[in-house]
Amino acid sequence: MKNIDWASLGFAYIATDKRYVSNYKDGAWDDGALIDDPNVTISESAGVLQYAQTIFEGLKAYTTKDGRIVTFRPDLNADRIVASAKQIEMPVFPKERFIDAVEQVVKANIEYVPPFGSGATLYLRPYEFGTNAVIGVKPCLEYQFRIFCTPVGPYYKGGIRPIKLRISDFDRAAPHGTGHIKAGLNYAMSLHASVTAHAEGFDENLFPDSATRTLVEEAGGANIIFIKGNKLVTPKSNSILPSVTRRSIVYVAKEYLGMEVEERPVALAEIGDFEEAGLCGTAAVISPIGLINDHGKEIVFSNGLETVGPKVRELYETLTGIQMGTVEAPEGWIHEIK
Ligand code: PLP
Ligand code: COI
Repeated sequence: MKNIDWASLGFAYIATDKRYVSNYKDGAWDDGALIDDPNVTISESAGVLQYAQTIFEGLKAYTTKDGRIVTFRPDLNADRIVASAKQIEMPVFPKERFIDAVEQVVKANIEYVPPFGSGATLYLRPYEFGTNAVIGVKPCLEYQFRIFCTPVGPYYKGGIRPIKLRISDFDRAAPHGTGHIKAGLNYAMSLHASVTAHAEGFDENLFPDSATRTLVEEAGGANIIFIKGNKLVTPKSNSILPSVTRRSIVYVAKEYLGMEVEERPVALAEIGDFEEAGLCGTAAVISPIGLINDHGKEIVFSNGLETVGPKVRELYETLTGIQMGTVEAPEGWIHEIK
């Protein structure tokens, strides 16, 4: 195992030993290979550079309590990158090859998988982008699919602590746009909102729906869940990313914790009725929310800014227990790297 201070890792890039690359040309993907070079060399006029033709995924590898190395539901990431590719006119990287590439990258960088209990995990970043020169606006003919990995700690600075959100005045996704896929352009859209939120002392933005600005959508890099009593409520919308974590939490809430779950439009006007809230995603895991500022009106959840509420804690512990092998997983959720 690499000599890394796992406990002090934040969510930042560290180059690891090997990455997977496959190139698409003349209508077909090549065989793909693990390579050493972390740099990408492409045309100055590549479609990704000029017109942002790029999509990505994020998933993690974990060391379980009994020392196995596992990934969590990589089939869902494989499916989602297929959906993303279709939406922005890119060739589909086949699902079986996606899973195989995940396995190859984890195995080739096994020394970077943080130990059980360290608080860190190995984040995998699959992505695909247009590489040939384009100058008219059109899809590329050539693409590269890559996966690299990097060990990470908590997404929000300061570890697991309640975060502060503000309702954004900027949009991240249009009603009939690309909010439901994992395209780089959505994240470029969120940067100005993010920098200005940080400058105002918030950790993240909560984006309302762009059409009416009356419904809650999601954060720049995570879905949102709300809790009241024994009920979990999470927004349903065509312009939010179908988070693997959120879909898993919905199942865990119902089947493990006996909670009632509502997936439905959530009005901004009702968020003050909830007792707890959290952001959920691969990077965010389940990050408890302390407060949401809606244009000066502060909604403070019952846990406040120092503590994690009981339901969010229970969901967090069950979900991470499943991921790290201390809680029995539903069939097919844990993909062991052998
Ligand atoms: N929403 C957005 C915009 C994201 O970028 C992410 C991260 O992947 C999520 C939600 C959470 O999705 P998942 O749980 O699949 O990581
Ligand atoms: C992830 O959770 O995997 C994401 O892609 C979110 C990203 C903003 C880091």
